Amino acid sequence: MIKKVTIKNLQKMKEEGEKITMISVYTYPLSKIIDQMGIDTILVGDSLGMTILGFEDTLKVTLEDMIRHTQAVSRGAERALVIGDLPFLSYGLSKEETIKHAGMLIKEGNCQAVKLEGGEERTEEIQALLEIGVPVMGHIGLTPTYVNKFGGFKVQGKSQIAETKLLEDAIKLEDAGVFSIVIESVPWKLAKQITEELTIPTIGIGAGEYCDGQVLVIDDLIGLSLIDKPKFVKKYANVQEIVKKAVKDFINEVKEGKYPSEEFRYG
Ligand code: KIV
Repeated sequence: MIKKVTIKNLQKMKEEGEKITMISVYTYPLSKIIDQMGIDTILVGDSLGMTILGFEDTLKVTLEDMIRHTQAVSRGAERALVIGDLPFLSYGLSKEETIKHAGMLIKEGNCQAVKLEGGEERTEEIQALLEIGVPVMGHIGLTPTYVNKFGGFKVQGKSQIAETKLLEDAIKLEDAGVFSIVIESVPWKLAKQITEELTIPTIGIGAGEYCDGQVLVIDDLIGLSLIDKPKFVKKYANVQEIVKKAVKDFINEVKEGKYPSEEFRYG
């Protein structure tokens, strides 16, 4: 039987200088494929609001959306640690609500941990989750549920004040007990400083090469995304072109009476 990656394994990877890999994925087949390729952790990100559901941002994603997709991903992931993303307003209301919603994501989604966005203001909720045994991943920098506060999807931590605040937030999250922190869209030097300051692993996205691990959204990584590609995204494949060609070929062959040919029919 394949052994599942654990939070302890991730911690050991930081201590031994082995980079951690994470991909944000939302469906059973892609979860199964990337799990078989040896990814360490899978995030079922609320970015699915944009990539899968076609919203402009992540704010309309519901807990039900997240549970459904986390279930699918968990069915595909034998080895990778699966982290379910808590969507906007499923936390931040009261400790009780946060516990209830995170508990539902763990219990019904069958994931091993949850992620939520924010810094110092989240510490009490994080401690409450840890008390009932729910491991939590933090997320700072360009936290997408704060998009309206930030005035768009913009690089964070550029001023001295913002830099200090992000570093303080990271330390407070570690003190509160998160097992890892996603650092999104911040200058690489700041991400490096945070990574060196913390004893837990940092996972970067648009945060340079010095983080303990890296995460990308699957649609960006394979070239399926219809959204403008941020600077940090490396497109490892062009699935959109492959799909376009396949569909065009199908349309042409049907129109020309070439498909289905004899080999594709029943006797
Ligand atoms: O929702 C998501 O996919 C994320 C990652 C980009 C870190 O939060």
